[in-house]
Amino acid sequence: MNFVANKSDSTFNIITLVKKYGVCVVPDFISAQNLLPLNNEFDQIIDREYGEGFYEHGCRDYMDAIAVSDNHLLRSPFSAEIELVTTPAIRKFAKKFYNKDTFYIQHIFNVKSTETPKKSSELPYSLHFDKIHMLKFFFLLSDTDEDCGPTWVVPGQQKKSFQLRKKWHNEGGSVQSINNDLHYLDNEAIPIIGTAGSLIILDTDIPHKAGIVAKHRYRKVIRVSMTCPAYASIDLRRNSE
Ligand SMILES: [Fe+2]
Repeated sequence: MNFVANKSDSTFNIITLVKKYGVCVVPDFISAQNLLPLNNEFDQIIDREYGEGFYEHGCRDYMDAIAVSDNHLLRSPFSAEIELVTTPAIRKFAKKFYNKDTFYIQHIFNVKSTETPKKSSELPYSLHFDKIHMLKFFFLLSDTDEDCGPTWVVPGQQKKSFQLRKKWHNEGGSVQSINNDLHYLDNEAIPIIGTAGSLIILDTDIPHKAGIVAKHRYRKVIRVSMTCPAYASIDLRRNSE
């Protein structure tokens, strides 16, 4: 099972891996030169040094998650993050994945995770698929091994979630009430690790969960969530996350 691509691979090849496995890792997507300013800006965002349009999203004492819309990010002073989020490659990946033009960025998250308490049975620390389908781009700003809280996944199992979600929708079920618990696949999950600068592309129909961060370790990631209502086959007005 090889879902690691090269940065020089074509959009077609990278998205072929995403379609096959539900996930793809592109090491060195961000150059070492660009990592430094990105980390500097990230630290300012996490330290709440700039507030306009940035807001806390599900922050806990072991996780700072600062969200921003793409419009607010574009008006912010964070030029390195703007350049990263607006890189044409991201839109090319999304366009190839959805085979449509009607996708958009729903959220941009800056997330710093530190030592996680032992509450691993709760979402997002339990295997699930997202109720509203997303194509998520994780830009790793720090080296992420198994002890740094990587995302865990069951590669290749995303089609089952898609069918389940679609059936639920077709039968008129509200997205809030869908059972997205996949914890019974726990033994098959593997961590998606990577060095700083890696890009991880994730189809959220893949069974996935957040990883536990060990003592004295941390993970810094910028996450861009794309959605395409036509692909998700849902009425977004009826839903919450
Ligand atoms: Fe999720």
